[in-house]
Amino acid sequence: MRPGTSGLRKKVKVWQGEHYLENFVQCILEAQGDALKGATLVVGGDGRYHNSAAIQTIIRMAAANGAGQVWVGQGGLLSTPAVSAMIREKRGAEGERALLGIVLTASHNPGGPTEDFGIKFNNAAGSPATELDTEAVYALTQTIAAYKTLDGTPDVDLETVGVTDVGGMRVEVVDPTEDYVRLLRRTFDFGRLRALVARPDFSMVYDAMSGAAGPYAKRVLVEELGADPACLLRCEPLEDFGGGHPDPNLTYADDLVARMGLAADGSVLPAAEGAAEPPVFGAAADGDGDRNMVLGRRFFVTPSDSLAVIAANAQAIPHFKDGLKAAARSMPTSAALDRVGAALGFRVFETPTGWKFFGNLMDSKALGGPDLAPFLCGEESFGTGSDHVREKDGLWAVLAWLSILAERNGDPGAPLVGVGDVVREHWARFGRNYYARYDYEGCGADGANAMMEALRAAADDSAAFAAPAAAAKQRGFELVSIDDFSYTDPVDGSVSARQGVRMAFASGERAVFRLSGTGSEGATVRVYLERFEGDVGATQGRASEELRPLAEAALAAARLQEFTGREAPTVIT
Ligand code: G6P
Ligand code: ZN
Repeated sequence: MRPGTSGLRKKVKVWQGEHYLENFVQCILEAQGDALKGATLVVGGDGRYHNSAAIQTIIRMAAANGAGQVWVGQGGLLSTPAVSAMIREKRGAEGERALLGIVLTASHNPGGPTEDFGIKFNNAAGSPATELDTEAVYALTQTIAAYKTLDGTPDVDLETVGVTDVGGMRVEVVDPTEDYVRLLRRTFDFGRLRALVARPDFSMVYDAMSGAAGPYAKRVLVEELGADPACLLRCEPLEDFGGGHPDPNLTYADDLVARMGLAADGSVLPAAEGAAEPPVFGAAADGDGDRNMVLGRRFFVTPSDSLAVIAANAQAIPHFKDGLKAAARSMPTSAALDRVGAALGFRVFETPTGWKFFGNLMDSKALGGPDLAPFLCGEESFGTGSDHVREKDGLWAVLAWLSILAERNGDPGAPLVGVGDVVREHWARFGRNYYARYDYEGCGADGANAMMEALRAAADDSAAFAAPAAAAKQRGFELVSIDDFSYTDPVDGSVSARQGVRMAFASGERAVFRLSGTGSEGATVRVYLERFEGDVGATQGRASEELRPLAEAALAAARLQEFTGREAPTVIT
């Protein structure tokens, strides 16, 4: 039971196997040691199949293990950022924060009886479990011999807000939006956002992909900011996400993408005669509401650009009004953020893939390091957020973008400045990091692993480097180095090795190869491609075309087709 990039994800059938869920939960609880006695737990999930049944089991086990209280989201629902907010915001009767959050989600993986279920856990800071925490739980799963639960206590009514007792432990069913919305109100200027939303020339759509983000979007966008309820797409949570893949990207959010006037490859669709203009702003979330995709009218914002644009316009967000102290991106995320940091004078950190690596940086001061707040961070995998919580936050990214648009559109009489205008201006100012990610989903694990091992060999050994260098050269690219990214956490000193193989080319291009850590079967190879363009006149091209030659060289150098049998990626983002 080794958790991956973000918790333990398995097919529902595995979780329903004898004692499987119970064993894992017992290990999470035991890993808390004595601190668990009398402590508060936050429990909730993204509403996928098996969510409610698992919550009832966890409540009984928490009581049997001596926890003092469980806060659970009404209907068993809590988005991932809301769990983090609740841990940090909601105080118990003694004024204590929660010790632990248990989140039932497999994030953007499909749900339903034959699909995925998952469990991840957060610490008392609201951060995803660190490497050290997950390793400790994993070690316990190797030796667990028994678990504790209660016999015969009735199920808790998850549908009704209120307090009950389970075997002497207090259970409070809470409104899942309350703490989270209070926090967002402090982070953003809701009055200003309302004024933008009220402009007659402004329009938006939000697609929650039938996941947990729906109720939050309804509460914030409609009830707080006054958006038309018709702007909410798929905002009722469904156990199987309507049969879809709740991952906000150009492929899986295809209805939204088409509404915004784009094809699945990001190109502009020809406008149908007499058809209404697409909305000014569009966004989508994943199953547990921590990911986001941001779109403008006929414009797709890559997550790497989104991060850089938010950084460059940080003053539009009240939480950042005094400027950013630091920002971070995962290694495969483009270096667009670094250019903003260099120009505006804030520190930029490069971490391995996984939100958990940002937590220590956000809490650096409390952990004895320099004060890095206010802090912005993001990843190419459609994650953006800040130190307002310790998880990435899909709705936060939407409000960040609306804040930027509100600032740019302060004059109600002037023509509306849209998302595409903001990004094009950004490229003209900072240059553009052309970026694309190729995913090869469902590959055989053996072939994918062999490819990674061959790349690592080429990183370590100059004789083994010759073959990929020759393959790249044949396609017009000079390969200068291959290395395997290793990260030393500046706060706790922990080392995370083997975090992705990087190829660097002579003219500054980069290709990164890594295996996904979030799948539940087979292997997914990810190839991240990046090329910086500093000539303003050349920043308006199509990323797919700009990067094709680099892709061909990098794929040939890695012998991807030979190892995986794949001629083309399954998803390009
Ligand atoms: C989850 C984590 C992210 C991470 C992503 C990577 O969503 O929360 O922090 O970037 O997984 O997924 P991958 O499939 O590439 O390992
Ligand atoms: Zn997610």
